[in-house]
Amino acid sequence: MRKKVTIVGSGNVGATAAQRIVDKELADVVLIDIIEGVPQGKGLDLLQSGPIEGYDSHILGTNDYRDTANSDIVVITAGLPRKPGMSRDDLLVKNYEIVKGVTEQVVRHSPRSILIVVSNPLDAMVQTAFRISGFPKNRVIGMAGVLDSARFRTFIALELNVSVENIHAFVLGGHGDTMVPLPRYSTVAGIPITELLPREKIDALVKRTRDGGAEIVSLLKTGSAYYAPSAATVEMVEAIFKDKKKILPCAAYLEGEYGIRGFYVGVPVKLGKSGVEEIIQIKLTPEEDAALKKPANAVKELVEIIKV
Ligand code: NAI
Ligand code: 2OP
Repeated sequence: MRKKVTIVGSGNVGATAAQRIVDKELADVVLIDIIEGVPQGKGLDLLQSGPIEGYDSHILGTNDYRDTANSDIVVITAGLPRKPGMSRDDLLVKNYEIVKGVTEQVVRHSPRSILIVVSNPLDAMVQTAFRISGFPKNRVIGMAGVLDSARFRTFIALELNVSVENIHAFVLGGHGDTMVPLPRYSTVAGIPITELLPREKIDALVKRTRDGGAEIVSLLKTGSAYYAPSAATVEMVEAIFKDKKKILPCAAYLEGEYGIRGFYVGVPVKLGKSGVEEIIQIKLTPEEDAALKKPANAVKELVEIIKV
C-alpha cells in the first residue's frame, strides 16, 4: 500500500515539499490549508505534472481534515512566515494558536502518524505539537538542523570550491540565534574544516549560517526561504519511509541527553521507520556544551509564555 503524507499549510514550504515528495514518488500527498481553493488548485496543478514528470503519486488539495485520515507522516508548515525586521520569536503567539489547532485535528484523524514540525519559532512549535498531541517523543520531530547544516555545507563548498557532496556538517542547537554550528565535526572528504580554513574564515561562515534565514528574508522581502526548507523536510520524510537509519540533525525531545531535560533542542538523531530511533550523543568541548545549553534556556522562555 502507498504511504500517505499530509502537509498542513499549502504555502511556499508546504507546496514545494509536496512537489518534492511526488517527484520522488515517496507517497501520496494531501495538501490542506484554511484558504479555500489554494490547496485544491496547487494539488490539481501538481497532479497534472505527473504525466510529464512520470510519477503516479496522487495529490489532493483540501480544506477538510477527513481527507487527511490515516496519514503516515504529517508535516506542519501552517503559520505565518517571517517578514523583514521580524524575528522568529515574533511569530510565537500567533503560530502557537495555529499549531495547537492543527495538532488537535491531526491527532483526531491520524492518531498513528509521525509529525514533522516546520512552523516557526521552530523549537517552541515542535514542543507545542508534542504536548498537544500526547504522541511519544519519537513521533514528534522538528525540522531545522538539516536546513541549517545544508546552509553551512553550501558556504563551505563555495569557500573551498569543492563539491557539496564532499561536505558533511553539523549544526545543532536552536533554529535561530542559539544555533550551534560545530566546525570540528564539519568535514570535507573526511577532513575537518578546522584543518582547511583559518579561524576567521570559519567564524565568518558560521555567522552567515546563523543569519542564513534572515539573509533570504531580506532579499525576498515578502516571505522566507522555501526551496532549501522543503528539501530538508523531504530528506527527513525519505529517511523515515525508507527506514534508512540516517543520522541527521533534528529538533528532538531531550530527557537528560546532553544534560538537558524536558525541551526540544537540535541534536544528531537516527531517523528510521519509527521516527527518532536514537539520540546520538557526540563528545563536545566545554564551550560547545555550554553553547548547546543556551537553546534549551531560550525554548524554556518561549514555552513559559505559551505554557506548553
Ligand atoms: P506561507 O505563508 O507561504 O504558508 C503558510 C500557509 O499556512 C499559508 O498558506 C496559510 O494559509 C496556512 N495556514 C495558516 N493557518 C493555517 C491553519 N490553521 N491551518 C492550515 N493552514 C494554515 O509560509 P511558508 O514560507 O510556507 O512558511 C511556513 C512556516 O514555516 C512559517 O512559520 C515559517 O517561518 C516556517 N519555516 C520554518 C523553517 C525551519 O527551518 N523550521 C524554514 C522555513 C520556514
Ligand atoms: C529560515 O531559516 C525562516 O526559519 C526560516 O529560512
